[in-house]
Amino acid sequence: MKVSIIVNQKKYDAEVDTSMLLVDFIRDIAGLKAANVGCDTTTCGACTVLLDGESVKACTVLTVQADQKDVTTMEGLNPVGGQLHPVVKAFGQTHGLQCGFCTSGMIMATVSMLANNTTGRTLSEDEIRQGLEGNLCRCTGYHNIVAAVELAQDMMIAQKDD
Ligand code: FES
Ligand code: FES
Repeated sequence: MKVSIIVNQKKYDAEVDTSMLLVDFIRDIAGLKAANVGCDTTTCGACTVLLDGESVKACTVLTVQADQKDVTTMEGLNPVGGQLHPVVKAFGQTHGLQCGFCTSGMIMATVSMLANNTTGRTLSEDEIRQGLEGNLCRCTGYHNIVAAVELAQDMMIAQKDD
């Protein structure tokens, strides 16, 4: 089946098998390798991307379901010549990663969680931990990841106030 999918603002037209997973389209056709496949069973969150702005696990979405839609991967948060996205910056500054395998998924889940924060205040540590429940990390013990999200929230608020 023919699909036309925008990934990080670039259009990809391709003929794909109807069983092809979105994560395979992103990695093999768009050639973007940040989204990883850790489990293939919706468990680890390493493949998390945004689909029309909503966070999804790309190993459980068929490519054909993304036809005519917009996908954002971690690479799309950091346009060439642009500023680092605050969530990316915060993960670096707080050492919110070790091997990095989960990091792209963690970052995309964080971007979505912060964009969907309708509380009118910053999220608490518990809320952050709950929000990242679907994303597993085997290295960090999560403490620095939570610190990264807290720092990203502060950076985003400071940017709004500028
Ligand atoms: S690879 Fe998609 S959730 Fe693990
Ligand atoms: S940094 Fe290694 S799995 Fe999270």
